[in-house]
Amino acid sequence: MTTLPSGQDARLALATCAELPELDPDDVPLRAALQERGIATDVVVWDDPTVDWGTYQHVLIRSTWDYSKRPQRFSGWTQQVEASSVLLNPASVVRWNIDKTYLRDLEERGIPTVPTIWLDPARNFDGRAIHTRFPAFGDFVVKPTVSAGSRDTGRYRADETPQRSQAITHAKNLLGVGRWVMIQRYLAQVDTVGETALVFVEGEFSHAVRKDPLLSGPYREGDLQGVLYREETMTPREPSEAEMAVARRVVDALPEVLGLDGPLLYARVDLIPDDEGEPVLLELELTEPSLFFAQAPGALDRFADAVVARIAATTQD
Ligand SMILES: Nc1ncnc2c1ncn2[C@@H]1O[C@H](COP(=O)(O)OP(=O)(O)O)[C@@H](O)[C@H]1O
Ligand SMILES: [Mg+2]
Repeated sequence: MTTLPSGQDARLALATCAELPELDPDDVPLRAALQERGIATDVVVWDDPTVDWGTYQHVLIRSTWDYSKRPQRFSGWTQQVEASSVLLNPASVVRWNIDKTYLRDLEERGIPTVPTIWLDPARNFDGRAIHTRFPAFGDFVVKPTVSAGSRDTGRYRADETPQRSQAITHAKNLLGVGRWVMIQRYLAQVDTVGETALVFVEGEFSHAVRKDPLLSGPYREGDLQGVLYREETMTPREPSEAEMAVARRVVDALPEVLGLDGPLLYARVDLIPDDEGEPVLLELELTEPSLFFAQAPGALDRFADAVVARIAATTQD
């Protein structure tokens, strides 16, 4: 177990959102694990105006799940915190990661990603122009580039006119409020194989989980009203060699893509199988990923040790 050297005194802020004032249940055991290692924690709501972030040398982003409703404000907050504290992961990383257009930077480097058509709200697409960008057969997905917890995301049948109309309305509504839209073929093997989330700590693979499929049909106005995310079912999973290889490529690309001089404290790579069964990148979570401590023995200890090592390396007397 890594503990803080004696003489170093650290209080760590674990950033959360107002709806989860005690953190997400998955993150709760982190407090005791850090306490055991000599680090006291405060759980702090990121947009609470009364907080003086300068009192914390270190701030760890955890359950800030409502940021996707106010991405600019959240990004501004990360910069504000970084002016006085060490933010994990750093503000520049968060800024890049909260908009899924980052997938293009990874695709350019040859990483297999879910094929995507991107709609820019500035282009003023009419219904017909949106329609021509949908696939002709199979199911497809419409979602905003800034989202979390499957919010504002819908699945549609390409060969059913009413569903195509619903998808056009969905896309138009997002574009109409200035949001970028992604159109993807629904990769149907997710229904049988599921999604694999691989967690990396300091660039090293820690553990993986399987997530069941989340999308059953069209987006409906008021979907997820009053809740933060679509309910997810997770089970432990041993990643395949192919999944591990893709995830590793993603993580290894990050220092160059982001101009970092080392690995990130945490990264989660979410993969789904394409129609040939090959893993492709759906999402890379560098902001506030659930790390699924409960699903893998040792995961909590590995992460807590890594947090302590970071704090020990960057604490000023
Ligand atoms: N192209 C797709 N094919 C199959 N399932 C998808 C696709 N896009 C999204 N999903 C489903 O929707 C969920 C949420 O989408 P995701 O891109 O991970 O956004 P976020 O988690 O940020 O809301 C995924 O976990 C997956 O179940
Ligand atoms: Mg996701």
